[in-house]
Amino acid sequence: MPIALRRFHKDDLATYRAWFADQETARRISQPDMAWLRHVTLISNSGAWAATDAGRMLAVMQADWDSDMTAWICVVVAPSARHRGIGAEVLRALLNGFGNRFAVVEAGVEPSNVGGLKCASRCGFIPMSQEPDHEGFLHLTLARNLTIPAPGAEAS
Ligand SMILES: CC(C)(COP(=O)(O)OP(=O)(O)OC[C@H]1O[C@@H](n2cnc3c(N)ncnc32)[C@H](O)[C@@H]1OP(=O)(O)O)[C@@H](O)C(=O)NCCC(=O)NCCS
Repeated sequence: MPIALRRFHKDDLATYRAWFADQETARRISQPDMAWLRHVTLISNSGAWAATDAGRMLAVMQADWDSDMTAWICVVVAPSARHRGIGAEVLRALLNGFGNRFAVVEAGVEPSNVGGLKCASRCGFIPMSQEPDHEGFLHLTLARNLTIPAPGAEAS
């Protein structure tokens, strides 16, 4: 059965939280709690998606966006499902679906997070700078549907 994407809902939280027993997950991502759940389910410019295979949750993705059509995106693959191409596959599916409405999609990944960097690069993200920000994250961008006005023309 192909991997399906659907919105994350409150019944997914216990399964998702269990992934944080894995050190790498806990090191990279803040532990999801009720405040996080409220953020991604109730705030209008934020959302989370579950990627499932035959009902089993394999990955969770979060996107937050602003009114300028820029979105920030993050993917977490179930520890038991890593290194099988799932991260790149589900990220690509979200970018080509819901993510397609955003002109610019960005991600923040620590330089030591080789898997995160490779997964993002596989989906077309490129680093905006070689230096991490003050919190230690490299900013990556996937720019799409940009209309660059001709010199002298008004941007609409
Ligand atoms: C990063 C993460 C999403 C990768 O998921 P995954 O399903 O294992 O990744 P994939 O199997 O799709 O691999 C994509 C590429 O990354 C590489 N990769 C994945 N994990 C890697 C690791 N730990 N070390 C080195 N390379 C790695 C794969 O070899 C593959 O490379 P390729 O394009 O050259 O073939 C997963 O490890 C994870 O959930 N980590 C914790 C959360 C996190 O750091 N998220 C990213 C920041 S938002």
